[in-house]
Amino acid sequence: SHAGWPATLGPLRTAAGGVGLRPIRLRDAKTWSELRIRNQNTLLPWEPTGIGSWADRHQPSAWPPLYAVLKSEAKRGAVMPFVIELDGAYVGQLTVGNIQRGAVRTAWIGYWVDSDHFGRGIATAAVALGVDHCFGQVGLHRLDATVQPENMASQAVLSKVGFRREGLLERYMDVNRRWRDHLLYALTAEELVGSAAETLVRAGRAGFP
Ligand code: ACO
Repeated sequence: SHAGWPATLGPLRTAAGGVGLRPIRLRDAKTWSELRIRNQNTLLPWEPTGIGSWADRHQPSAWPPLYAVLKSEAKRGAVMPFVIELDGAYVGQLTVGNIQRGAVRTAWIGYWVDSDHFGRGIATAAVALGVDHCFGQVGLHRLDATVQPENMASQAVLSKVGFRREGLLERYMDVNRRWRDHLLYALTAEELVGSAAETLVRAGRAGFP
């Protein structure tokens, strides 16, 4: 374990219900598989290209090895793999990756939500919880998020939490079998007035329990 890991965060109250973050678990295999397979069409355009078919890569048996890698990376302080919960139910994932200490104290943040729950403020609340944890317990100063120019929902999430657009990364990532341009969004700790959660509360998008 390292500063800020493992951690259970929230809940933040939203119109959809209570949104929280908790570490991934080995016993998430069935739920992870079911949600990932059901959401293939909404996830595939935005996710790194993988080897083999979507269905094969998301069988329940694919979870334990993935979980093991994430768990060991989390243990050495490089990643924080969270499940997004709505009233205690698994509805997506939020990952903080490439955590770097020293003079940069930075990481990237990424997320997905079950399409049955789109547009209810869940990703926004989850990102706010993740941001506040990174700038608090974890001691980071900057967070990056890379998003394709066509991904308007994800850009809306980042803007609501306070991320700024910093530039265009050309042919940045191998996503859905092509090198795709990505917009770089970023947020540094001193830009937030109070916390990210307080920013949502001030905007009427969330409440404290
Ligand atoms: N054009 C403009 N805005 C849109 C569109 C659109 N086509 N679709 C949705 N939005 C807006 C909504 O109106 C809402 O903004 P508002 O509150 O100002 O009205 C916002 O996008 C969505 O906010 P939330 O409800 O908090 O987000 P949600 O829980 O629906 O999850 C997410 C958003 C995570 C992007 C979801 O759509 C998803 O899982 N998509 C597939 C995977 C993905 O793209 N993940 C992000 C990759 S990039 C990254 O991780 C940095």
